[in-house]
Amino acid sequence: MQFKTIIEPFRIKTVEPIRSTTRGQRETAIREAGYNLFSLKAEDVLIDLLTDSGTGAMSSQQWAGMMRGDESYAGARSFYRFEAAVQKITGLKHVLPTHQGRAAERILFGSVLKPGDIVPNNTHFDTTRANVEHRGAVGLDIPIPEAREPQTIHPFKGNMDLEALQKVLSEQGDQVPLVMITVTNNSGGGQPVSMANVREASAICHAHGKPLFLDACRFAENAWFIKMREPGYADKTPLEIAQEMFSYVDGATMSAKKDGLANIGGFLAMNDNDWAQKCRTMEILGEGFPTYGGLAGYDLEAIAVGLEEVLDEDYLRYRIRSIAYLGDRLDAVGIPFIKPTGGHALYIDAKALLPHIPWNEYPAWAFSNVLYIEGGVRAIEIGSVMFGRQPDGSEKPAAMELVRLAFPRRMYTQSHVDYLAEVLEYVHGMRGRIRGLKMVVEPPVLRHFTARFEPAHDVLVVD
Ligand code: F0G
Repeated sequence: MQFKTIIEPFRIKTVEPIRSTTRGQRETAIREAGYNLFSLKAEDVLIDLLTDSGTGAMSSQQWAGMMRGDESYAGARSFYRFEAAVQKITGLKHVLPTHQGRAAERILFGSVLKPGDIVPNNTHFDTTRANVEHRGAVGLDIPIPEAREPQTIHPFKGNMDLEALQKVLSEQGDQVPLVMITVTNNSGGGQPVSMANVREASAICHAHGKPLFLDACRFAENAWFIKMREPGYADKTPLEIAQEMFSYVDGATMSAKKDGLANIGGFLAMNDNDWAQKCRTMEILGEGFPTYGGLAGYDLEAIAVGLEEVLDEDYLRYRIRSIAYLGDRLDAVGIPFIKPTGGHALYIDAKALLPHIPWNEYPAWAFSNVLYIEGGVRAIEIGSVMFGRQPDGSEKPAAMELVRLAFPRRMYTQSHVDYLAEVLEYVHGMRGRIRGLKMVVEPPVLRHFTARFEPAHDVLVVD
């Protein structure tokens, strides 16, 4: 008998209370925060879905591993355990620990990019793009066209447009030092990339003599989607699938705060000896000696264990299903979101949900504010506040107005998801009364983190 109820494949040994607040307290808190959810105190949030990065719960095995951490400056035992765990999955020759994903990006791009270079990717995550642009290079996003259509169902909506890749390598290959694929495609909705797409992208890159790197933050979730959706993989384990995926690439950047199941950490890995040499030099300048790379020995242990646990089938089934379950609940009441649901998050389509709010009154930002006021839930806007300001100073609408509900790993239970669905249904019911916001303080870079807002029409929700 296959029972339908989703149960967490773990039991709870340590608990951390979450604090209930009244609607009035939340109204005050958000007003004082300048209607910016980043400026709230976390303890004023009931369910925090701001990010799945570094926010998960560690297992008893990880905590036990941390007690075994070897804090030697050079050649620590913990490094060799970490290196072995990374190499078992990736097969890559050189493994450089880093304090998080963006440090791996900075080291890689700082070592191999020069001004005018182009880095194609299915879709750069914002720190990846920022690190490419910091070198004076161009981050080129070439997802398949379906990636930008929220309602279109496609099993591998994270795929790279291989014709576009072929074209850029044929026409501007001299300017391309490497190509990247992000699994899963975070900015595009947490959507997976198929094995066929990685394999073919790899063949195209290698035919042009270019290395292919994975942004591997959510490699295990991607492996699970391949197992579920791609012909020929149903009987393979997530580890075997991940190993095949990495076998096609020449290197990887990784934030262990996602599929490393750790609260901090990451790595840069690659096969090329010359590049590894350059990257180790950069690493020493900014992160630390190459056997600890900005991490404590105990962090290396936590990641080594996490990389193994994240490939557990029961865990991956529960994780992906609980997000799909939220999608089913929202579908039943007609709340629009990016379909199908992704690996680590559900992305509500605020442009479709609040058509009466113009893009420059930030519909997704307004929706996430109301979600907090009504239910104490914190989400993140991925829309015109985050992406509206252009390098030339003009302001343009973002391609999509999304509210991302990112699920921390192993942290919330199924009843939290039920509560979340109830809050979303309630806020959806009042959508006609939600109004937009105007930005009253705008910082020059990454404005969404610290900008301040006021309701554009006296109140955020009309009676
Ligand atoms: N690449 C992707 C695809 C990411 O999602 C992130 C982080 C990074 C790189 C950078 O890793 O944070 O360890 O430096 N994403 C987080 C998020 C912040 O909320 O999506 P990091």
